Amino acid sequence: MVGQPMGMVDFSLSDSIAVVTGASRGLGKAIAQGMAEAGAHLVCVGRALDELEATAEAVRSLGRRALVVQADITRVSEIDRLVEATLKEFGRVDVLVNNAGINISQNALEVTEEAWDAVMGINLKATFFCSQRFGRVMVEQKKGKIVNMSSQMALVGLYNRSAYCSSKGGVSQLTKVLAVEWASHGVNVNAVGPTFIETDMTLKALQDKAFYEDVLRRIPLGKVGQPRDVVGAVVYLASPASDFVTGHTLLVDGGWVAW
Ligand SMILES: NC(=O)c1ccc[n+]([C@@H]2O[C@H](COP(=O)([O-])OP(=O)(O)OC[C@H]3O[C@@H](n4cnc5c(N)ncnc54)[C@H](O)[C@@H]3O)[C@@H](O)[C@H]2O)c1
Repeated sequence: MVGQPMGMVDFSLSDSIAVVTGASRGLGKAIAQGMAEAGAHLVCVGRALDELEATAEAVRSLGRRALVVQADITRVSEIDRLVEATLKEFGRVDVLVNNAGINISQNALEVTEEAWDAVMGINLKATFFCSQRFGRVMVEQKKGKIVNMSSQMALVGLYNRSAYCSSKGGVSQLTKVLAVEWASHGVNVNAVGPTFIETDMTLKALQDKAFYEDVLRRIPLGKVGQPRDVVGAVVYLASPASDFVTGHTLLVDGGWVAW
């Protein structure tokens, strides 16, 4: 018989161990909660301890386990400490969501070395070394899913974002390389590419009326997103439903890039 018998498509993360970086607020917090709703236990990573504890409490209120690790993941030694803490608590890792990131808006003529290094340090370097360190565990396990937080800005340019767009282009390209290298080890690597989502990162820019209207004009669905709008894509790429998907950047952009 050609093909396999049909069963229910499995979007569940039941008893998966999922690490989410930048879980203290914004997209990371919504993703941690959404993954817990789908059945995962969480490792909540970031810099702001009180906010991370609040995310962990939300996870625990759903009946899942949550470990908080406060770390600056631009430092590889901190990533190693994170991996160690994760394995000590849970003994394995099933999903890594490389969500932590920053933007520093500057005209390309004005970008400083410090700003360039800061954006690359968290958006691209931390994404790579978290993937490498957890990837070593996943390759050994012969099982794992990595979901990188890219952006529509991996695919389009926008003024005052030369470092940010370059970093996210790098994230989507890195996603493909790791997908190819680790496919034979049972590790899927994908990315999500949101448009403008209302979080602390975008608050100031979206308060500028002219900028806000320019953004809306570019989004066919006619609104900016909320953190919750991104959760379904991440849960899908972390779940068995996406087992035959790797190296892909799934846009959640209200149609920006389609236009
Ligand atoms: N908000 C948007 O419009 C949007 C659109 C596309 C992609 N993204 C991406 O989504 C991700 C989350 O963005 P957000 O809007 O929730 O931003 P946010 O500023 O609300 O949250 C960023 C998170 O990253 C963490 N973080 C930053 N530097 C860190 C470091 N050195 N070590 C550990 N944690 C660190 C912060 O503590 C925070 O939890 C980012 O990668 C961002 O580029 C956001």
